[in-house]
Amino acid sequence: MKELIDKLYKQNNLNREELLKLLEGMSKEDVDYLISKAHETRMKHYGNKVYPRGLIEFTNYCKNNCVYCGIRGLNKNADRYRLSLEEILSACEEGNRLGYKTFVLQGGEDTFFTDDKIVEIIKEIKNRFPDTAVTLSIGEKSYESYKRYYDAGADRYLLRHETATKELYEKLHPGMSFENRRRCLRDLKDIGYQVGAGFMVGLPGQSNEDYVNDLLFLKELEPEMVGIGPFIPQKDTPLANESRGTVETTVIMLAIVRLLLPEVLLPATTALGTIDPLGREKGLKAGANVVMPNLSPTEVRKKYALYDGKICTGDEAAECRMCIEGRIKRAGFVLEMSRGDNKLWRRR
Ligand code: 5AD
Ligand code: FES
Repeated sequence: MKELIDKLYKQNNLNREELLKLLEGMSKEDVDYLISKAHETRMKHYGNKVYPRGLIEFTNYCKNNCVYCGIRGLNKNADRYRLSLEEILSACEEGNRLGYKTFVLQGGEDTFFTDDKIVEIIKEIKNRFPDTAVTLSIGEKSYESYKRYYDAGADRYLLRHETATKELYEKLHPGMSFENRRRCLRDLKDIGYQVGAGFMVGLPGQSNEDYVNDLLFLKELEPEMVGIGPFIPQKDTPLANESRGTVETTVIMLAIVRLLLPEVLLPATTALGTIDPLGREKGLKAGANVVMPNLSPTEVRKKYALYDGKICTGDEAAECRMCIEGRIKRAGFVLEMSRGDNKLWRRR
């Protein structure tokens, strides 16, 4: 195993058989070794810096029905909300005061927010906070829509591929297309966005072969960012009674992705912090270098319930900033308040 890990560390690549062998055969010591190599790689490229992104969850309406997700359209128990332009801007204002240089606008696929509205939001944010990066996370759109947002000033786009196994993808996403999701990721790259893909860990029926598909897909796509978090059941979804993903597997995936894509921006996700009080710290020590503190207005945070038990639901943005900063310092890292662009990327 050690040879395989060394090979992954040196060559930033492994083939299908090798990845599978790694996932199936690691002892506790091997996992520690993998994590140490991922940490070393992160230190080489980013030092002990951790990049924060202020997350604004601006709508929980969604036309889709992803079976794992608490804001799926069919969930009658979801208490729906939309933020107005003014509310979004005041969340940015607060973020700006706290020093954030990146805002992530995340929402369900909400047809109320037409392209014109999204363009207006992007322009307003860019106009008021010219030195900040705007990241969108609003799902599948046409090439033309993505292009309009980009031309309006959006810099980055997060669209997890969720799983790179077609059959599993189709089971989890009724009415959606595996091919279209991949088309979206390619379009986003072609347009010039810094792109974030990613997947969940511990989905019902997910196997090591599926993880290998995810890892190979990411290696091929070469996204600037990769979001990886454990699946956590949400009580009003068809997967309510399934078991959640584990910290151990999630951390292994983070470490492997750090080694496959040494320069990637890799969040220690909120979902990881939800299943373990020190989950995000464990992620940071395994190669993650991004955190996404919540800037959404306090009143709506509980309503953006993708999964149960979500943390950062009751605190003010300022408290969240303090909390995350303390955690990062105690784990031996420093918050880096710049935009934190991926080093390999230049705006076209
Ligand atoms: N558990 C964990 N992650 C989830 N997401 C959605 N629902 C859940 C859940 N129940 C993730 C998806 C999505 C991201 C915004 O949140 O991967 O892309
Ligand atoms: Fe948000 Fe701790 S990170 S409250």
